[in-house]
Amino acid sequence: MRLHEAKRDLYRRLAKEQGYRSRAAFKLIQANERFRFLRKGFRVVDLGSAPGGWVQVASHAVGDSGFVVGVDIHDIRVRGPNIKGILMDVNGEKLVEAVLAALRGAKADVVLSDLAPSVSGVWELDQGAQADLTLRALDLSESLLRADGSGFFKLFEGERSQEVRDEFRRAFRAVHTLKPAASRSVSSELYYYCEGWKPGVRAPDDSEAKLSGPASRPRP
Ligand SMILES: C[S@@+](CC[C@H](N)C(=O)[O-])C[C@H]1O[C@@H](n2cnc3c(N)ncnc32)[C@H](O)[C@@H]1O
Repeated sequence: MRLHEAKRDLYRRLAKEQGYRSRAAFKLIQANERFRFLRKGFRVVDLGSAPGGWVQVASHAVGDSGFVVGVDIHDIRVRGPNIKGILMDVNGEKLVEAVLAALRGAKADVVLSDLAPSVSGVWELDQGAQADLTLRALDLSESLLRADGSGFFKLFEGERSQEVRDEFRRAFRAVHTLKPAASRSVSSELYYYCEGWKPGVRAPDDSEAKLSGPASRPRP
């Protein structure tokens, strides 16, 4: 058995033993051990959250005084008093409204995104689609994330990744790249812990830019 297969099997077994819905749970555990961005009482929005491993980790980390909203087109098979699952596409028109209602009008302290498309097998297409989903998570952060909040995003390495990294750097004060041990080395995914959300950098700019062209886009 190859090393990456052994690693996949190890985390699959650990997930089963510890009652996590997915082995992805360990990626978030390992990232949070390093950066400590999930804290007691925090409100967390998890985009692309099925089957629910990250929701379980976040729910435990924020405790009874915190709250976790998971969004996916598939059912999040995790229930709990501090969890709300929303069965919706991240591009859905009513999504912001539904998430803010679940958070009782308050914005989140942390936005997580493990969004990934169903893999077509054509790498350029898959990487492009994943980059678009991640940019969508950033756009949603404009409506859902509080000023100075943090983000934790998955991004596939490829032709579009520099463009997305530039957007992370524009929208956050500091950006840290990591490859959690639970992420297989053969996978092209990397994770980005981004701290210090700067509201207004993305969406208002973008809508203005559409009206008056890129020259009017203010630099951060
Ligand atoms: C890698 S999985 C997430 C695993 C999850 N973090 C966990 O711990 O169980 C990626 C998820 O992104 C979701 N997804 C992909 N495109 C989506 C979209 N447009 N809207 C909502 N969810 C989407 C998929 O349905 C899939 O469940």
